[in-house]
Amino acid sequence: MMKTIDDLAVDGLRVLLRADLNVPLDGGRVADDGRIRASLPTLTALTDRGARVIVCAHLGRPGGKPDPAYSLAPVAARLGELLGHPVELAADTTGPAACAAVAALRPGGGVMLENLRFNAAETSKDDAQRGLFAGQLADLADLYVSDGFGAVHRKHASVYDVALRLPHAAGYLVKAEVGALGRLTANIRRPYVVALGGAKVADKFDAFGSLITAADRILVGGAMAFPFLVARGDKIGTSLLEASQVAAAADLLKRATPGQIELPSDIVVAAEPGGSGAVVAADAIPADQMGLDIGPQTAARFAAALFPAQTVFWNGPMGMFERKPYSGGTRAVAQALADGEAFTVVGGGDTGAAIRALGFAEDTFGHVSTGGGASLEFIQGKTLPGLAVLEQS
Ligand code: 3PG
Ligand code: MG
Repeated sequence: MMKTIDDLAVDGLRVLLRADLNVPLDGGRVADDGRIRASLPTLTALTDRGARVIVCAHLGRPGGKPDPAYSLAPVAARLGELLGHPVELAADTTGPAACAAVAALRPGGGVMLENLRFNAAETSKDDAQRGLFAGQLADLADLYVSDGFGAVHRKHASVYDVALRLPHAAGYLVKAEVGALGRLTANIRRPYVVALGGAKVADKFDAFGSLITAADRILVGGAMAFPFLVARGDKIGTSLLEASQVAAAADLLKRATPGQIELPSDIVVAAEPGGSGAVVAADAIPADQMGLDIGPQTAARFAAALFPAQTVFWNGPMGMFERKPYSGGTRAVAQALADGEAFTVVGGGDTGAAIRALGFAEDTFGHVSTGGGASLEFIQGKTLPGLAVLEQS
């Protein structure tokens, strides 16, 4: 059984809280604070109950060494704004600064450690190396709380190994995510439609094979669409493409039932992302142009496919939604989900950021997951290291 923080006595104790605060930055400021807000219920419950809270998190992929560009300082600043009081950020993760900050903590107080990934051992494939770092993290605290759902698919020191070394429990975010995503693993109400887009194509290709078995229809947009378009013989100009995925896309098209995978029929293109877009047929992208959004005809088709669904999983924007000329496809998908009756799960940091940026209220959707890769792995029924370890006592 996975314990939650309600099962722990925390008063006066040092609690190491792993959160996923990996948020997009824009010029040194937090561009979307969804993951920070999602961490608040557990954090405030712990401090309200008199714990001494040590928040640890990663930001980006700094490659195992300190890099000011990946400092958690903007995140600590935003967290402080949301809490209404400043949040101290230690200058290191488990070094002298962290130890001193933890020693100075009072019951009900909190401190944030600097980016976990400034330490190569955090993400190391070597169990012993990770174990050493996890031991240092564990030495800072009496208890460990896992609430960084977006990272529970990573076998990292702060996600996995530290839970072997301290009494532990899940936070409210992990509990809520597991509960909501569980509705996509068994007794799924049909039609079940999946919409996939976004730029992190490689992660999603792994999931595609099992989604073909589970879903009635799969709508493909964003950069995810290009390997499929190439596989069926289209030219895609200068669009984003990982050429190694074309063969896999061809194989998926063969395995799918007729019409199960829906690809864009029109595309918004421009010579570069800054330009205003033009709409062309998906099989007629000019050689010097790149696809930046699904076109209006495709958006209408996708909306029509989503509307009658009973269950929807959506991971990845349909285009470069951050720029207005390329936001139409993502907006159309979000609107179709808002208008329909399906139980909808929107997964991934980028997709959550997209719906918020486009002005949709989060409660328009059944569940907005803070995890992209994590939610995809979860709904495939994979074992997530950061969840499995919480089941152990
Ligand atoms: C995410 O943003 O997907 C999570 O925070 C995990 O980050 P990662 O993909 O760099 O491991
Ligand atoms: Mg990810």
